[in-house]
Amino acid sequence: MCGIVGYIGQRQAYPILIKGLHRLEYRGYDSAGIALINPAGELGVFKTKGKVADLEALVANRDVSGTVGIGHTRWATHGEPNDANAHPHYSQTKNLALIHNGIIENYAVIKNELKGHGYNFRSETDTEVLVQFIEYVKSSGNLDLFHAVQVALSQVVGAYAIAVIDKNNPDCIVAARKSSPLVIGIGEGEYFLGSDASPIIEYTDQVVYLEDEQVALISRSHGLDVRNLSDVEQTPEVKTLQLSLSQLEKGGYPHFMLKEINEQPDTLVNCISGRIDPAGTDVILSGVINNKEKFLNAKRIIMVACGTSWHAGMIGKYLIEDLCRIPVDVEYASEFRYRNPVLGKGDIVIAISQSGETADTLAAIQEARKAGAFVYGICNAVGSSIARATHSGSYIHVGPEIGVASTKAFTGQVMVLSMLALTLGKLKGTIKKGEYRDLIKDLISIPTKMKQVLLLDPLIDEMSKIFTYAHNFLYLGRGYNYPAAMEGALKLKEISYIHAEGYPAAEMKHGPIALVDAEMPVVVLATADRIYEKTVSNIQEIKARKGKVIAVVTEGDTVASSLADYVIAVPPTNERFTALVTAIPLQLLAYHIAVNKGKDVDQPRNLAKSVTVE
Ligand code: AGP
Ligand code: GLU
Repeated sequence: MCGIVGYIGQRQAYPILIKGLHRLEYRGYDSAGIALINPAGELGVFKTKGKVADLEALVANRDVSGTVGIGHTRWATHGEPNDANAHPHYSQTKNLALIHNGIIENYAVIKNELKGHGYNFRSETDTEVLVQFIEYVKSSGNLDLFHAVQVALSQVVGAYAIAVIDKNNPDCIVAARKSSPLVIGIGEGEYFLGSDASPIIEYTDQVVYLEDEQVALISRSHGLDVRNLSDVEQTPEVKTLQLSLSQLEKGGYPHFMLKEINEQPDTLVNCISGRIDPAGTDVILSGVINNKEKFLNAKRIIMVACGTSWHAGMIGKYLIEDLCRIPVDVEYASEFRYRNPVLGKGDIVIAISQSGETADTLAAIQEARKAGAFVYGICNAVGSSIARATHSGSYIHVGPEIGVASTKAFTGQVMVLSMLALTLGKLKGTIKKGEYRDLIKDLISIPTKMKQVLLLDPLIDEMSKIFTYAHNFLYLGRGYNYPAAMEGALKLKEISYIHAEGYPAAEMKHGPIALVDAEMPVVVLATADRIYEKTVSNIQEIKARKGKVIAVVTEGDTVASSLADYVIAVPPTNERFTALVTAIPLQLLAYHIAVNKGKDVDQPRNLAKSVTVE
């Protein structure tokens, strides 16, 4: 959600800013803009509703020279997406320009106060209020920009990552963060700024992640000075990025989503490497081993997450209850944080988040910590806010996920949860020795099975053409296939804009069956498991009402296959891990339908990759 890029050094800033904005496009946005100070000392702001390409067209014949600048992709929260609301925002005198990710909650009070001091507003945003406020504090207190930002931010309630430049001091950028990420890249006599590392990695792998309520003075001549809001000097820790540029590019695929779907056999090998011994006899998830007592004494586990990560959490519940006999609740982070949950010492909260920046999940973690629970994170983005806010955790190690629709992160999350359940089940003695070995064997065979399933792509592509113009879809499954069905429905909904519902197969007859007619495609996950026959009965119920059934079955299946209109057969897998295999045809089906409809697969409308507002 919304992106920040910045540059100060000896080079021309514009090409770096535009390239950076392109790299940030995956996060989801509705307008884009840049601000630069040119050699004549003029501060220019160029911004427009639409895509970064629209911004490039806008500035085609304009002066975009300058060696200091900031750029932004906005995901509107306050005020509709239009040119005026796009960032950067000027201050009243046009001496300052600011970009902002997040929300200033007390903007209305500050705005009123500023109006009383003669300030006028050109946009409806909370962001413009902040830049005006900084200017007011700066001029009324006779402060420099850095100190004015500190003072202003101490009076602000909300979340922010900001970057400000001052026409009268082209030697510096002032940046600050609270609850919204900001990374500073350190080059040779130059600095880069990003809301994540993607606009930076091309130039340097040395970075500093700003902490909450830290303000950075990034100066061409004096280097980096980081302080807190009370002006106490902070020692920034310089980290080396473990990211490569090729991970951020499409590598010959037409879309990031298709690339990421196809990467899954490799990303899962990465995810298990060093955790399952090569002989396949043991799983060691160090986060669990290092906190053995806490896990062994846990009264219950609560998963908190949003969207796809919540679906992975549901599979985690089934796995942990099944294999470790510990009760598990799965909560939407947004509900959990506000509903006064019963929580305390002895509870383990597992926060699952690909981006590690989801505002609701981060807030849920804070609630859990306050209540004395032990918080374990399952994240993809290394060094992210959630990874840092948890007591311990496991990375899923699937590499950057650029497509807004989560694919490889989902399977990575399920893989880590599977390893967590196996590690804990062994510690607790709830899994028999022979079964433990069999389960591990099955888990390490998943990447090979995924490769087989990916070969079904041409079949699924053909199938997708039949359903391109469907208005609704149902996805059904029982047991482990139920969360997998919900995830399949979410994928379709997100990128093709077709309404889709994921349901427990048996629950269908308590309502959704009313929707079933000859026009209704129903995807049924009917792989071989303990309740296969029951799922077959549900297929019968759909067929009796003329619904079109697309069945995902196990190779060699005859019964469900003979009833279904279309069949996708996947290799046999232990039912506990079946979602890892069935995820792929569902991802491919959604992908092809969206492509057939000509939709923007990687950046679907209204969605953002990391949802940094609540
Ligand atoms: C997934 O396809 C979605 N874009 C969305 O539901 C996502 O999973 C959710 O916003 C949570 O994100 P996180 O994993 O980064 O916390
Ligand atoms: N709240 C700000 C706005 O609506 C920032 C949105 C964003 O994070 O992009 O302009």
